[in-house]
Amino acid sequence: MTKKDKTKILEKKIDDALIGGGQKRIDSQHSKGKLTARERINILLDKNSFQELGMFVTHRSSDFGLDKKVILGDGVVTGFGTIEGRLVYVFSQDFTIFGGSLAEAYAEKIVKIMELALKNGAPLIGLNDSGGARIQEGVVSLAGYADIFYRNTLASGVVPQISAIMGPCAGGAVYSPAITDFNIMVENTSYMFVTGPNVVKTVTHEEVSSEELGGANTHSSKSGIAHFSAKNDIDAIAHVKKLLSYIPQNCEEIPIAYKYNGENEIREKLDDIIPENPNTPYDMHGVINEIVDNDSFFEVHKQYAENIIVGFARLAGKSIGIIANQPAFLAGVLDINSSKKAARFVRFCDAFNIPLLVLEDVPGFLPGTDQEWNAIITNGAKLLYAFSEATVPRITVITRKAYGGAYDVMNSKHIGADLNFAWPTAEIAVMGAKGASEIIFKKEIMSSDNKDAKLEEKINEYQNLFTNPYIAASRGYIDEVIKPQQTRERLIRAYKMLENKVDNLPKKKHGNIPL
Ligand code: HXC
Repeated sequence: MTKKDKTKILEKKIDDALIGGGQKRIDSQHSKGKLTARERINILLDKNSFQELGMFVTHRSSDFGLDKKVILGDGVVTGFGTIEGRLVYVFSQDFTIFGGSLAEAYAEKIVKIMELALKNGAPLIGLNDSGGARIQEGVVSLAGYADIFYRNTLASGVVPQISAIMGPCAGGAVYSPAITDFNIMVENTSYMFVTGPNVVKTVTHEEVSSEELGGANTHSSKSGIAHFSAKNDIDAIAHVKKLLSYIPQNCEEIPIAYKYNGENEIREKLDDIIPENPNTPYDMHGVINEIVDNDSFFEVHKQYAENIIVGFARLAGKSIGIIANQPAFLAGVLDINSSKKAARFVRFCDAFNIPLLVLEDVPGFLPGTDQEWNAIITNGAKLLYAFSEATVPRITVITRKAYGGAYDVMNSKHIGADLNFAWPTAEIAVMGAKGASEIIFKKEIMSSDNKDAKLEEKINEYQNLFTNPYIAASRGYIDEVIKPQQTRERLIRAYKMLENKVDNLPKKKHGNIPL
């Protein structure tokens, strides 16, 4: 065989691998409104930066006629490339080959790039579109999944891991995204569930569609499994790129800083944001957007547990993670879901050296049997624990209410915050004035001829004494009471001061967060 013939064989193999078994398969993917595995990678990565690995890998199974269906690459495209010039590792599952189902060789390809990502300290991106374990290959498919889950766990906190769900993600396929840091789901074409509608119907007699059971909308708003919901494949990929712009390559690095030329940092609009009546809601997004660099806020978990807002932003060009109570939703109360949402975000930011900013306006924890029976105690403690063990620069600004246990939890000085500011409208107390007065002045009010007037008098008395930031400031729990308009300026200065912060936790194998 001549050198030319050998080259021809190579070219034919590459052609076969690239087309993944035929134009018909590509058309079938497009007809469902989905891109192919390779199109997705091409959009994700910088032009011509993709280096594929394992293009000629095939399965080794012969059961159920698989020996007659050998397709180069075996249903997953893997390799590395760059996004905005920064190295990333990527796998992209090809639904057109055995339904993107995962088996032995396929899993080995993914494991190979996971290990490279871990050793070389760069993010891992998974583009998921798969019917789960390849049924014909039996236990080796299950082994392949476990090999991946294990490495997802080892990589957690070392390199960022992002999953885009762009088609089915069923059965065993769900647990790798579940361990990764962020899940982005495509609306109408993706769904995630452990057991599908048929099994659900058999076991619980519930009739539910795939979309309702595990579509993007369900997981963005009900379960919180999806951090982002995207309109289509292109939008999902745009989310991945945007997310990466705020985070570093690995846990040893800091996020890239954007150019920022100092300017007038006073934001007068903030002075008018808190309503006169302390019980009137306002949208905390307004506060966030005034404080951070223009259009830099990138909200995570937007539709889930809306009583707390979390997301990335830039302040003077540098990444920060924001956790903010939202008075416009359930009065900004802390409950089970908001505690879990915020705790996971705090831990991600801490793992990847992203400073934290807390904007606090919280009336306390949500009362009720539903909350108590579903373990608000354990779940609230998650947030307390997450803040307490975070060693990145941590700053809190109390805009209005900071009541009860929620005051402690929301990055108080006592659990390790570096600097705590309060606006003059801050109310730092064990509880709200009305509730407090009804308890501590109960006898006085009950024995009064005019109970309502007495209650009003006591509320005023309590308010004058406690519902302000000055007692906390006199104790040093608040470092400075600032005018709202000064917030951005103070924060820029404070984060600069904290830039080289070093803080170590006591030596341990690992802590035991209340899960
Ligand atoms: C092998 C599979 C497959 C699988 C799909 N295919 N899933 N092949 N193993 N798990 C094949 C189909 O046979 C078909 O092949 C092609 O992929 C396309 O599938 P369709 O059913 O025609 O597509 P669609 O109608 O879009 O339905 C997609 C689907 C459905 C909803 C994903 O295929 C499905 O329900 N698949 C099974 C899902 C599942 O139960 N997976 C196993 C979970 S158990 P042809 O040759 O006809 O094109 C599991 C345990 C792991 O994952 C546990 C680890 C912890």
